[in-house]
Amino acid sequence: MTTPVYDFVRGYIEKSPVRAHMPGHKGASQECGFGAAYEYDITEIKGADALFEADGIILESEKNAAELFGAAETVYSCGGSTACIQTMLACACRKKKRIIAARNAHRAFINSCALLDIDVKWIYPVYSDSIVSGDITAAAVGKALSEYDADAVYITSPDYLGHISDIKEISQVCRRYNAYLLCDNAHGAYTAFLKENIHPVRLGADMCCDSAHKTLPVLTGGAYLHVNNEKLVGQAKEYMSMFCSTSPSYLILQSLDMCNAYLAGAFSEELAVTCQKVTELKERLSAVWDICISEPLKLVIHTVSSGLYGYELADILRQDNIECEYADSTHIVFMLSPKNSDDDLSRLRNALEKVRMPKLLINTPHVKLPQMEQAVSIREAAFSECRLVPVKEAAGKICGRAVTVCPPGIAAAVPGERISDEAAEALFKLGITEINVILDSDWE
Ligand SMILES: Cc1ncc(COP(=O)(O)O)c(C=O)c1O
Repeated sequence: MTTPVYDFVRGYIEKSPVRAHMPGHKGASQECGFGAAYEYDITEIKGADALFEADGIILESEKNAAELFGAAETVYSCGGSTACIQTMLACACRKKKRIIAARNAHRAFINSCALLDIDVKWIYPVYSDSIVSGDITAAAVGKALSEYDADAVYITSPDYLGHISDIKEISQVCRRYNAYLLCDNAHGAYTAFLKENIHPVRLGADMCCDSAHKTLPVLTGGAYLHVNNEKLVGQAKEYMSMFCSTSPSYLILQSLDMCNAYLAGAFSEELAVTCQKVTELKERLSAVWDICISEPLKLVIHTVSSGLYGYELADILRQDNIECEYADSTHIVFMLSPKNSDDDLSRLRNALEKVRMPKLLINTPHVKLPQMEQAVSIREAAFSECRLVPVKEAAGKICGRAVTVCPPGIAAAVPGERISDEAAEALFKLGITEINVILDSDWE
């Protein structure tokens, strides 16, 4: 597969030009370190194309990506999935400005709704024992669509704990109600290359974002916005340009470009081998730990059933120089990829196998996220003046800023929601001690 962006920059470097253009480092900066990275960091010089008006090498590279993922159109983002989520909502929610979303959405979604003044009807997942993850059924989506006239449905799959929703069935329900299905697939770019392709584009989502940087060898910030519905093709660039810098990173663009060649070549085979190794690791560890069912490249452990908080286990593993992706009171999450060596996997296995588990089991309070009344719109609240109050004094007041546990950035309270007594209690149990409430005597 061609790598036109990388090839262009390589050719430019080889010509040793006088760089009388931005950026100011001129291709070399001893003061700032990173060595060769500077050489490859260029701007929109002649022949380099431009991300938001792509008609040259960037367009060719994006078409390569679209072919690999089976999308009608793929647009690169140097602003992560966050910029893709903003763009998806701008494209798909223009008419009614209403969307149905699963409540375990990342805060990037809530911020996008605030920016675009989109109203949300939440579907609450059938939670396991974490507000981060849960099951969203097609039946729940159908019920919400029958009660709420929305432009689109927004589902996060896989979620932070690696739970995958039935996108195929949900997409069929959405089609019945003439609503677009938008999928936050930030954690699942690689799923298109599994033996069984379970990528949302394949399963019927109309648009979907993949943080390429989360699971593929792409620099941080690199993401794909896939468009899978002819009605939405051709709109993304214009909208994405409204949210992003006019100076996108050519380093990120080149890493997305080079990743295409890797995906077209060795990746599927390497992925299959890694998935097999991770499956074996999970099987072996399940003799000792409570391993959760998750997408293939995540190892998720329910730690409390072994008498440890997730963050305690994370600290124990740090002594063995192992850094996890995420840990909270109940779980720990490791994200693995074909770029992890066999040595990485054995170090992880050995470290987990030697952990001493406390004899006494601990209890974590089972916090059920209460459903709150949306007293004012997300936008109105998010842009209102606020004051920070102890969460115990917040009951009856209106939440002014998203209250997230970060990572993973899932909202426990959304701007505009009236905090009930029950909600204030639940937020406190989740470790949230203060909350921004709207400063307006009419609403207080
Ligand atoms: C589920 C989910 N969606 C969206 C995002 C935002 O992605 P990005 O960091 O690529 O902007 C994240 C980031 O962690 C995420 O976990």
